[in-house]
Amino acid sequence: MIEKIIGEGRFGICYQVMQGQKLYILKQLKRGMLKKTGSKARFEEEILMNLHHESIPRFIKKIEHEDFCGYVLEFKEGKTFEDVLYLDRHEFEREEIFSVGSQLIEILKYLHYRGVVHRDIRVPNTLYDGQKINLVDFGLARRINNKKYRADMDFAFLGDFLLHLYYSSFEFKGGKKRPWYEELELTEIELRFLKRLMGIAPRYKSIQEVEQEFQETFEANKL
Ligand SMILES: Nc1ncnc2c1ncn2[C@@H]1O[C@H](COP(=O)(O)OP(=O)(O)OP(=O)(O)O)[C@@H](O)[C@H]1O
Ligand SMILES: [Mg+2]
Repeated sequence: MIEKIIGEGRFGICYQVMQGQKLYILKQLKRGMLKKTGSKARFEEEILMNLHHESIPRFIKKIEHEDFCGYVLEFKEGKTFEDVLYLDRHEFEREEIFSVGSQLIEILKYLHYRGVVHRDIRVPNTLYDGQKINLVDFGLARRINNKKYRADMDFAFLGDFLLHLYYSSFEFKGGKKRPWYEELELTEIELRFLKRLMGIAPRYKSIQEVEQEFQETFEANKL
């Protein structure tokens, strides 16, 4: 039973469906896109099939008919961060940024250990219920090969994502628009951490290094 359409992207259409009192996501792959990109649209299903994490939708099954190609995923709770930030206008204080960031780093650790880079960690692809984070949309995820697909690609996405949270409580006081590292009120250590994530300062080498510095950054904030 299709309940509603929740999104239409480059590769497909996302439906919310209900079966036996349970919600699922049905992702339909666009026929034209399948022809054009060949097996590219298949990465998401191949990657999700091998992931088992409570913050990542389970792959349920593949559906292949003459006139329908797609797959069913577990439905994950929460609003997108896009809605939380720009519809609800929720303001994130440091403590909440720490909670959200820690969970995302935990998910990235899981992915990178398993040789997967997500490459699309953004506000429309992350869900939040006020406590727990879920990461969806593995359409651009790939197996890490250290050439075209490197684990550190996710760090700049994480940095950019965190900046959205920092900006939620930012008040523009007029004047000239300045870059984030000048206009946000950040401690030295936060500034350094974010610059390293964004690649403006020497990049982190692994997600473990990111995790350690993230914890130190927020420990220092509490002092
Ligand atoms: N497993 C899920 N549980 C709940 N909501 C989901 C799930 N998967 C996707 N969604 C919702 O549907 C929207 C669109 O899904 P998704 O981001 O996977 O596809 P897309 O961006 O349209 O396609 P693509 O980026 O692959 O071209 C998401 O922003 C999210 O709100
Ligand atoms: Mg998406």
